[in-house]
Order: sequence, then C-alpha cells, then structure tokens
Amino acid sequence: MSEITLALAKGRTAKDSMKLLTKAGIVFPDFDTKSRKLVFYNENKSIRMIYVKAIDVTTYVEQGAADIGIVGRDNILEAEADLYELLDLQLGKCRFSIASLHEKSIERGRRYKVASKYTNVARKFFERKGIDVEVIKLNGSVELAPLIDMAHFILDIVETGSTIKENGLTIIEDVEQISTRLVVNKASFATKTTEIQRVIDQLKVALEEE
Ligand code: PRP
Repeated sequence: MSEITLALAKGRTAKDSMKLLTKAGIVFPDFDTKSRKLVFYNENKSIRMIYVKAIDVTTYVEQGAADIGIVGRDNILEAEADLYELLDLQLGKCRFSIASLHEKSIERGRRYKVASKYTNVARKFFERKGIDVEVIKLNGSVELAPLIDMAHFILDIVETGSTIKENGLTIIEDVEQISTRLVVNKASFATKTTEIQRVIDQLKVALEEE
C-alpha cells in the first residue's frame, strides 16, 4: 500500500505541476494528461496520485481521501476548506480581480449585482467592504455578464488581461494573488509527518532550482 495519496488538479496547470513533481524526483511513469485513467503510482509506489477536477481537490484532501493536494489558490479560497496550505509552487500565477463595463468604482450605499464562478470569494470581498451585493453564479464566460447588463461587476481570474481587454471591461480592483499551492490534510500531517515532509522538501529543492 502507498504511504500517501496525492490529489492533482486537472486543467491548465496539470502539465507544469507534473513537470515540477518530476524535477523533485517524484515520477509517475504512466501519467499522461490525455489518459482517462484516474489513479497513478510513482516509481516505488510510495505515492498514489488521483487526478481530479481542480474544484474537487480540496474536498478529497479535507475528507482525508487524499493526504495532500496540488491545486490553485482560487479553488482553495472558494472552498473555504479546513486544511493546511504549506507551499507555493509558483505555477499558474494570476489574480482575482473585480472588473466592470460601466462602473468606475465600488460605492458605499449602493446595491450591486456581481457575477462570478467564485461566489464565496465574491460574497466575502464585498462583505468586508460593507457593500450589499447579489452574487450571481456563472460557470464560465463570466466577462459576458456586464456586457448584457446582468451584473455591475464580475470577480474573475485575470492572467494576461486579454479577456478583460477584448471585451472592453476595466479592472476596478485586484483582490488576491493566485498560484498553485500544496495543501495538506490536517490529520495526515500529524500521522504521516515524515512522508509528507519528504515530499515538501523534495518540491522545495526543485523550486530552488527553477
Ligand atoms: C479564465 C478566466 C478568464 C480568463 C482570464 O477563463 O475565467 O475568463 O481565463 O485569462 P486572461 O486574463 O489571460 O485572458 P477560462 O479560459 O478558464 O474559461 P471560462 O471563461 O470558460 O471560465
């Protein structure tokens, strides 16, 4: 049986995460982002890797089905999961920003509609400012919402800024810096400290060589 289970997020950063793991000496010989396989083992079978939707990584880790996870901070913040975030893997760097078509700023005393994939993050952000909002959940193409007058603002990921620009939106405020992180189940970190710390140390060495 493997010592630890790692949940790896599918999607944009999967390839780079795998590259970093390989550089850290954690190699999954059968892994291929195109494969339909969901479970992979490293060379000495000490690590079982499950390849899952990014949004689900924190669930597997919080439940203890995975001891550690590699996932974007966007999903970590949205999930509000009870786990440790122990290492910044410096991949998939982007940010959460508020953007709008017509609004120039966020004004107190007004009630706004805000569209986002990240409804918890959006709700919290405006709550902290004491602004009353109706948060509308979308699953993609969030930039469309202000264009069709469905929302005053969006909270979304901005990487290069081209989606915002090409749709004529303006960034009003940056909310959080995002990158890929290593998360750890709290109980696992107590019971499998050595095994988990080994992975962290290997990744740290690989990161220093970047
Ligand atoms: C993400 C995000 C933005 C865009 C930002 O969307 O939600 O729309 O990328 O990147 P940029 O600043 O480099 O333009 P994604 O491509 O995942 O598709 P989606 O709109 O369907 O969520």
